[in-house]
Amino acid sequence: MKRTLGVCYYPEHWPQSQWAQDAASMADLGLTWVRIGEFAWSRLEPTPGQYDWGWLDQAIETLGRHGLRVVLGTPTATPPRWMLDRHPDMLAHDAAGNPRGFGSRRHYDFAHAGYRAECARIVTAMAERYGRNPHVAAWQTDNEYACHDTVLSYSPVALQAFRNWLAQKYQSPQALNRAWGNVFWSMDYASFDDIALPNLTVTEPNPAHVMDFRRFASDMVAEFNRVQTDIIRRHSDAPIAHNYMGRITDFDHYKVGADLDIAAWDAYPLGFLSDRLEASADHKRRFVRQGDPDLQAFHHDLYRAVGRGRWWIMEQQPGPVNWAPYNPDPLPGMARLWAWEAFAHGAEAVCYFRWRQAPFAQEQMHAGLLRPDSAPAPAFAEAAEVLRELGAMPAQGTAPAPVALVFDYESAWAWATQPQGRDFDYFRLAFHFYRGLRRLGQNIDILPPDTADLSAYKLVLAPGVATLSPPFLAALAAHQGHSLIGPRSNSKTADFATPVPLPPNLPGLDATVSRVESLPPDVPVPLAGGGQFLHWREKVETASPVPEVTEDGWPALIAAGGLHYLTGWPDDATLDRMLTDALRRAGLEPDPLPEGLRRRDSDTHRFWFNYNPVAVEWDNTTIPPAGVHWRPLA
Ligand code: GAL
Repeated sequence: MKRTLGVCYYPEHWPQSQWAQDAASMADLGLTWVRIGEFAWSRLEPTPGQYDWGWLDQAIETLGRHGLRVVLGTPTATPPRWMLDRHPDMLAHDAAGNPRGFGSRRHYDFAHAGYRAECARIVTAMAERYGRNPHVAAWQTDNEYACHDTVLSYSPVALQAFRNWLAQKYQSPQALNRAWGNVFWSMDYASFDDIALPNLTVTEPNPAHVMDFRRFASDMVAEFNRVQTDIIRRHSDAPIAHNYMGRITDFDHYKVGADLDIAAWDAYPLGFLSDRLEASADHKRRFVRQGDPDLQAFHHDLYRAVGRGRWWIMEQQPGPVNWAPYNPDPLPGMARLWAWEAFAHGAEAVCYFRWRQAPFAQEQMHAGLLRPDSAPAPAFAEAAEVLRELGAMPAQGTAPAPVALVFDYESAWAWATQPQGRDFDYFRLAFHFYRGLRRLGQNIDILPPDTADLSAYKLVLAPGVATLSPPFLAALAAHQGHSLIGPRSNSKTADFATPVPLPPNLPGLDATVSRVESLPPDVPVPLAGGGQFLHWREKVETASPVPEVTEDGWPALIAAGGLHYLTGWPDDATLDRMLTDALRRAGLEPDPLPEGLRRRDSDTHRFWFNYNPVAVEWDNTTIPPAGVHWRPLA
């Protein structure tokens, strides 16, 4: 497939007289896509029921006339002020029980039936009007579900919906009491109407209660989204996307993705390095203008899975953002590198956020492709370079990856609910393993936890998956390749109880986790063969071969044919050694890369990305800082 570039644009922010000039410059630059509309509700429906489509008709027509393809966003992330008068109880409540306020965005409760109906109304009106418009070539639902901490709501509306959800799931309070273990601390309920939300308890609430609340909250996002996709599909054949965010695990993206055609995500590498990554101060300093070398790639692979192969970048950072603790200027070349890395991972399109920097309101400090005075900002020339290079490159597809990593949203909730040690964060653990594989030059697929066929993979990793699903366990039993499972995998039942027989209960593996311990970060557990475990380790009784032990004699790695169980959280050096061994066992070639250099294949080319602020010698060439190097695969 031919890869394309696009941009996010807000016609409502600019005088109409400027639109044609903007569209002409976008087309001159060679952009394909323009995403519009996603925050425009107050201008589309200034007062309830009074629509003003004229300007949007005109904007779509102007873009279309210049050969641009429109991604039309539904405006439901920003209900206008009048909406609150109609639905005073539509605001989500924070964990302290306070309603969140109007004056920014995402101020709604996913469970609010009245607001859902309003969304259905505006989406129906838009889909009827633009569903067959030849210039509307894709849709986006809402904007960044969960961003700004908006999934978990402790409102009266959420409470009622949660009780209904529980009644559906359990049918009787007795069944719920059994599943949650409510005999503990006299927590038994006589009626679903007695059940509260799991905030404001004196000490920690029942983890099974919290887990069901999180499942419920995630289901509300999927239901909310489905209202829109059902309507759009009745009026349009164009593909539907949603733009997900980075390191957001509050809802099950696979479930939302099942109703969409394309998984898109919003990549802000410098913001993410600054505000959502555990890393040393040295690491953050080294990559301050380039972003973490693995965090984007992780999300590319994750959202390729969520989109069942079809994925985009809907928003690509073009310069300094406004929202992170520190907002540095990207190193020259990064706006190009980030786009190429996305394409190497199979992105169909990369859209920069945004066309012109707004001189007003919250994001006036956020760069665009153009400055507020319409002069080109640095990323403009980099986008032009990407387009020249794309023109010279053959169409390409996504390379099959021989290594897979399971990523499971419920495990993120499980270990946030009952971490048992402050540092046990599921995303952090999964990303640690992903990064280890990337340091060894691997192409990786991310798999949903209910994957039922592993036959395409030589090596499968499933660290920290709280409950391995029956289809996955069956696939593991049938798998001819190799796997590395653990730590802490399969250690909870679906009801968030400790299974008996004790974990890990893996096919063909004789192993019983008899004790676990979590440790402060400065108390490592040395391994006899070198390296150490951090944060977490397990004592396992086993009659299976034990290729690695800790210095104090606990099994560190346990083998049963191709399956290996890992009993702790390895530090970087130990992880590299263990992954190198696992890759070799699986018949794969580790390719240890220099710091900050990363590799990814498409089906036709091998690409290298230099995230370092200095040049790197590799593949018989000098790759400059922020450089991309590629050659055809042999
Ligand atoms: C995204 C959001 C955009 C814009 C951008 C700024 O999270 O979808 O609307 O706010 O961040 O970086």
